[in-house]
Amino acid sequence: MPDTLTITDNRTGKQYEVPISYGTYPEYGASIPTADLRNIKASEDDFGLLGYDPGFKNTASCHSSITHIDGDKGILRYRGYPIEELAEHGSYLEVAYLVVHGRLPTRDELEAWTHEITFHTYVHESIKKFTEGFHYDAHPMGMLVSTVAALSTFYPEARDISDAENRRTQIVRLIAKMPTLAAFAYRHSKGLPFVYPDNDLSYAGNFLNMMFSIGEPKQPPNPVLQKALEVLFILHADHEQNCSATAMRSVGSSHADPYVSVAAAAAALYGPLHGGANEQVLRMLREIGTKDRVPEFVDRAKSGDFRLMGFGHRVYKNYDPRARILKSMARDVFEVTGSSPLLDLALELERVALEDEYFVSRRLYPNVDFYSGIIYQAMGFPVDMFPVLFAIPRVSGWLAQWQEMLEDPDQKIARPRQVYTGADERPYVPIDERTGADEQVGSPVGAGMDGR
Ligand code: ACO
Repeated sequence: MPDTLTITDNRTGKQYEVPISYGTYPEYGASIPTADLRNIKASEDDFGLLGYDPGFKNTASCHSSITHIDGDKGILRYRGYPIEELAEHGSYLEVAYLVVHGRLPTRDELEAWTHEITFHTYVHESIKKFTEGFHYDAHPMGMLVSTVAALSTFYPEARDISDAENRRTQIVRLIAKMPTLAAFAYRHSKGLPFVYPDNDLSYAGNFLNMMFSIGEPKQPPNPVLQKALEVLFILHADHEQNCSATAMRSVGSSHADPYVSVAAAAAALYGPLHGGANEQVLRMLREIGTKDRVPEFVDRAKSGDFRLMGFGHRVYKNYDPRARILKSMARDVFEVTGSSPLLDLALELERVALEDEYFVSRRLYPNVDFYSGIIYQAMGFPVDMFPVLFAIPRVSGWLAQWQEMLEDPDQKIARPRQVYTGADERPYVPIDERTGADEQVGSPVGAGMDGR
């Protein structure tokens, strides 16, 4: 007998049976089709029951075979491969191939893929002019969101999202051009001349060169820093159905082209609740200042006065596996860049917090942002660039999610339902007869965010 769930509607006494289905792991992700709840009606003309789930905290929006996270066990795998093994042995482009295609490339396939990406890194000269049009202090993430959307106008054929070969071309272009757009945004904000892509360099090496190169002679970026950036890119390639992946799928579900869909995903990432926590970690460490003040700040976090930034995660209730990799990599980076008092402070903060019952009982561990900001800063990236550094590698994940969504026959245009709580029908009131606030039903615009 198949696994089912029996629901009794106490309004009518009727019973309903809905099927339970499973993904790869029976103990993780058993689900019911919530559309079946529509059959549950209090009366004949009833619309049927809806699921109410703000923020999709317990709603699976798709079947996906890209990324698996087990937050209790601290597991992250792309296409089945543990993140630790990919970070140790892979390159970012190899992992991007894996995420997009579903399997690791052969040597020939990786060479061809790397060649293709390398030779699509240039952008139209008009993009340069476009970037130059931004104000000198424009946020680089605002510039990236805008320029990636602008690419849509250069590749109108990208609108044919039903053609698999055409989609693949746009995927190559997007992965190739993101570092160029990002570096142009940074150089513009510094008033520095743009550096064109150098096809002799690796993906990460080319990005470092476009960011930091000053004049001749040509000096390849430090190999330790290149490797560190590759690892950071690998760790950020995908993270299943997070806010930006959901934006990518939602916008893409209307069959918008991949450039504007990626712009929407990058816009979602721009928000401090998603891509901005590592910047907050840096600010917090600077505020703590010295190791002897760590206990005082831990006490303040325990009293609810503030949150330890870079600690805790909605999904991971164990050590975030990405944070573990970054913690061990930080030493290599600091050997090249010179030691950082912030790293010593972070290590001390982690030690004190993880010995404290408050953090242990709530299963609050360092997340990926705890060490990434310190490393980025040591490498010379300003904090404004942190979400941009997240967006560059995440584009492979967004595009993999987009492809999967388009090829999944179950998927429809994203269009959630709502539970309407507004006024019932009422007659239009002539302007001289209105009483103002008395007629208000629901929250007025500008009512505040109730502490959110
Ligand atoms: N410091 C101190 N206490 C914390 C922290 C923290 N960083 N995080 C959670 N808690 C406490 C809460 O006060 C709460 O305590 P209570 O049960 O006594 O009320 C308990 O732990 C559970 O917290 P929730 O807010 O319910 O957990 P949730 O899963 O909703 O939040 C979040 C996860 C937002 C990441 C949270 O841990 C947090 O704010 N962390 C700091 C910000 C941060 O580092 N964000 C980056 C996340 S990683 C990423 O997005 C790439």
